[in-house]
Amino acid sequence: MKVSLEGEKLILVPYMREHVAKYHEWMQDQALLQATASEPLTLDQEYDMQLSWTQDPFKQTFIVLDKALVVGEFVHGDPHIEAMVGDVNLYMNDLDDTQTAEIEIMIAETKSRGKGLGKEAVLMMMAFAVENFGIHVFRAKIGESNIASVGLFRRLGFEKTFQSEIFKEVTLELSVTELKREEFHRLTATVITYS
Ligand SMILES: CC(C)(COP(=O)(O)OP(=O)(O)OC[C@H]1O[C@@H](n2cnc3c(N)ncnc32)[C@H](O)[C@@H]1OP(=O)(O)O)[C@@H](O)C(=O)NCCC(=O)NCCS
Repeated sequence: MKVSLEGEKLILVPYMREHVAKYHEWMQDQALLQATASEPLTLDQEYDMQLSWTQDPFKQTFIVLDKALVVGEFVHGDPHIEAMVGDVNLYMNDLDDTQTAEIEIMIAETKSRGKGLGKEAVLMMMAFAVENFGIHVFRAKIGESNIASVGLFRRLGFEKTFQSEIFKEVTLELSVTELKREEFHRLTATVITYS
């Protein structure tokens, strides 16, 4: 079993088979598909995807649980479907630059947006990636009309490095200096790790 990370407002848990049905339900929404630049998948394809994500050494994926929605005590290894609200992903797929990773966030449940969950999930994933994989540069590719997502990454200090007119997409990056490392440690000092 992979780790779970508990922050202030959320818990990041491994993407489990039990999460797939709800994830698939979310991805029926055209707006979410567009915002995340995803292709619609059948339920079977989504199960295959979940398996491939969990087996891919170049990818880390967590399901975001809204702590306010967890029923009873949190139990590591329990999917806690009642509280799942989104996901956060890291792709370490630049073979020429193993210290750079792409990061993606989705808070699919609209009732859980605007509560700081997206921001905390990205920060926790970044701290996890710095600690465990030596990542120094984070990259986010976002549709240029996605004001919420661009706003979130800018709020965290990401800066625009590229704009694709063809794909109508901006690339934002954040470099992790020693100072930022300390900042991550401070911000995530209260994170509890379950393994
Ligand atoms: C983008 C998204 C992840 C934001 O998550 P969230 O949990 O609602 O965001 P947070 O509450 O953590 O907000 C963090 C910061 O993002 C910015 N932000 C969030 N929503 C915003 C909005 N609607 N408009 C402008 N800025 C916004 C703000 O700067 C905010 O900081 P502040 O509250 O201190 O001002 C969420 O709206 C989402 O998943 N949307 C659909 C999928 C998607 O677009 N994913 C990104 C694909 S690249």
